[in-house]
Amino acid sequence: MNKNEKFHVAVLSGDGIGPEVMVEARRVMEAISAKFSITFELQEELVGGAAIDATGTALPERTLEACREADAILFGSVGGTKWESLPPAEQPERAALLPLRKAFSLFANLRPALCLPELTHASPVRETIVAGGFDVLCVRELTGGLYFGEPKFLKQEGGEQMAVDTMIYKASEIERITHVAFQAALQRRKQVTSIDKANVLQNGILWRQVVERVAKGYPEVTLNHLYVDNAAMQLIRNPKGFDVVLAENLFGDILSDELAMISGSLGMLPSASLGAPRGDGLYFGLYEPSGGSAPDIAGMGIANPIAQILSVAMMLRYSAGREDAAAAIEAAVQRVIRSGMRTRDIHTGTTRLVSTEEMGNAIVASL
Ligand code: IPM
Ligand code: MG
Repeated sequence: MNKNEKFHVAVLSGDGIGPEVMVEARRVMEAISAKFSITFELQEELVGGAAIDATGTALPERTLEACREADAILFGSVGGTKWESLPPAEQPERAALLPLRKAFSLFANLRPALCLPELTHASPVRETIVAGGFDVLCVRELTGGLYFGEPKFLKQEGGEQMAVDTMIYKASEIERITHVAFQAALQRRKQVTSIDKANVLQNGILWRQVVERVAKGYPEVTLNHLYVDNAAMQLIRNPKGFDVVLAENLFGDILSDELAMISGSLGMLPSASLGAPRGDGLYFGLYEPSGGSAPDIAGMGIANPIAQILSVAMMLRYSAGREDAAAAIEAAVQRVIRSGMRTRDIHTGTTRLVSTEEMGNAIVASL
């Protein structure tokens, strides 16, 4: 991104805590804009339950259009009890997120699970296991597998209901996500653990073959394979033993939640969903907190805005090519955590309990 170019962001705050944490993310963008001379052009649009209420659909055409015109999508969260009685295919999560991923071919989902040394107490896992914190990156394939494979239907057959979902992967789909994982590993501790179920699924056999083949192009990265069931155990036994975890769509969905829980800081974890790199090495991407819309605490001013703020950092890194600004946000967040400020989700005895807004203030001040 050139100095005098504008960076266009489609801002989709959505439901639950989405709008209130987005306010803080926007304030961080203002601070970054002044400090790093980046001009943001923000376009707010409706998504999820808020869009259903206003327009009847979770992903209105107008919102899609704003995304098409943007350099990146900054997403809050969608869903809530109010829309739970809608037919499954119309519910905000399914009707907004999945089509967005598909429409922009956002096949690479990066979910960093970072447990800061200061926050190991928030992890439900024994202190001896997480002492000193850990840093695992889950690279999840996001546009294939059981989520999107056809046929996919529910029907009545022989007097009972029957459901069909189809798991399909082409070698090319496995190949491109494997490259993402290995490229990421090169910038980290150079270790990829590939997840599959090659002892049962044809998909797993192909997955393993393709990953092995791609790995040959990265001799400096160590590769190992785990069956998904074993991976679920090993992650909880020794998260520090992992660097990059590479998984297909459904396995990545499950393991990334496990990692988020072990890290103890769901409210702190951002994510990036990226398409193929463009000519300039940057990506179109959707950036969102890893956690959900948390309707139980929405509007109370107690949600942790850090996941949304760190999503801005990822956006600056991958879609704007501004590593300087991204690293500045991450450093500011770490300083504020070190200073002892905590929202309710990560608060314990001696630390200082603050509101969503106070946390935002502190990060802006630290910038
Ligand atoms: C996620 C979520 C989504 C998914 C749901 C809301 C459709 O769980 O982003 O991990 O399953 O991908
Ligand atoms: Mg999930």
